[in-house]
Amino acid sequence: MGRNKISASGTIDVDRARRETPGCQHVLHFNNAGAALMPEPVTRAVQDYFDVETKIGGYEAHRMRADELEGIYATVARLIHCQPDEVAIVENATRAWDMAFYAIPFRRGDRVLATMAEYASNFIALLQLQRKYDLRIDLIPSDESGQASVKALEDMMDNSVRLVCVTHVPTSCGLVNPVEEIGRVVRQSRAFYLVDACQSVGQIPVDVREIGCHMLSTTSRKFLRGPRGVGFLYVSREILDQLEPPFLDLHAATWVSKDSYKIRPDARRFENWEANYAARIGFKTAMEYAMDWEIGRIWERVQHLGSLLRQKLSAIPGVQVRDLGRTRCGIVAFTVAGWNPVDVRNALYRKNMNVSVVNVESSRLDMEWQGVKSVVRASLHYYNTEAEIETFCEAVEQLAQKAGGIR
Ligand SMILES: Cc1ncc(COP(=O)(O)O)c(C=O)c1O
Repeated sequence: MGRNKISASGTIDVDRARRETPGCQHVLHFNNAGAALMPEPVTRAVQDYFDVETKIGGYEAHRMRADELEGIYATVARLIHCQPDEVAIVENATRAWDMAFYAIPFRRGDRVLATMAEYASNFIALLQLQRKYDLRIDLIPSDESGQASVKALEDMMDNSVRLVCVTHVPTSCGLVNPVEEIGRVVRQSRAFYLVDACQSVGQIPVDVREIGCHMLSTTSRKFLRGPRGVGFLYVSREILDQLEPPFLDLHAATWVSKDSYKIRPDARRFENWEANYAARIGFKTAMEYAMDWEIGRIWERVQHLGSLLRQKLSAIPGVQVRDLGRTRCGIVAFTVAGWNPVDVRNALYRKNMNVSVVNVESSRLDMEWQGVKSVVRASLHYYNTEAEIETFCEAVEQLAQKAGGIR
């Protein structure tokens, strides 16, 4: 099935990808790091499931489609190379990350190491538990390229480190952190290793065995092109027993006697009973769809498009590309001299071109390090084209020429 999607030259069949993506007819969508355009099979899967719920009832639909719904765990396992019982399906990447983080048995004075790429929600959680457990949070310095320095990490590791948190790809730019090399260092210690892969899964091959992480979180709606409101958490069997979820319900645990309960043995201890099953079906379809394209090939195309966009934007007077790191992905951050990024986004939106704005409040450490308060974030996926990049850059150039035009 996957082969049909690859052209004779071994590259992705972009025309087919676009035919299967109805949104391509309406917008130039460079906001895949916000929420990608869903392909038609995903939308259809969600709609079909809602149709069944409408016709026969929600509980009955669940029972009727139980095998298919159960299959989502095996699908995640195939995508990131783990076991199905190491997967929890939750509402989003933040909930996934939090469920893992708040379950760690911290002791007073433990050290936590984090990258400069950390997402605001993760760091707020770190600060909350810092107060509670008197944790010492140390930042892994970035090397001269802006990626987390593995050498510095080696020097920081000792027995007091309980957790190393790494954001694979930040919200703010195209940096890809060296999660595998970091994993090799962390694995020599007693520390837990938690990876935020929210912006990487779907555009970059992610293999938890290669990374060596104990926990990894992601979301459906971004580079996996699934529906909103669903994501997953991976927790290695190796540490599952050591983690007590911060919340438990009758799905995560069983009420075995009047005074006691028993927590589930698998990663579903991080889930709760009620779920959006239509979104789960859509998410499963999206992951299978992504694997049909072959994530390695998606990664090749996204890197090609990302560097083309960087190169063209850099050639426009007044435009500054703000991406960090040695390896860069499909996210391209930039500023336009004399323009507020929100005004750039709005002006592009009026031309039917979608991008996001990232403010320092979302990714404070790396953005302060770069000295920027706000950037425009263009994020490309394999269904975007070189022609779209051309059109986009012409529009940005026109804005750059009338610097200060909109305030
Ligand atoms: C790096 C990173 N981590 C986590 C999140 C949170 O994801 P979600 O909105 O699915 O909770 C985001 C969202 O943009 C992100 O960019």
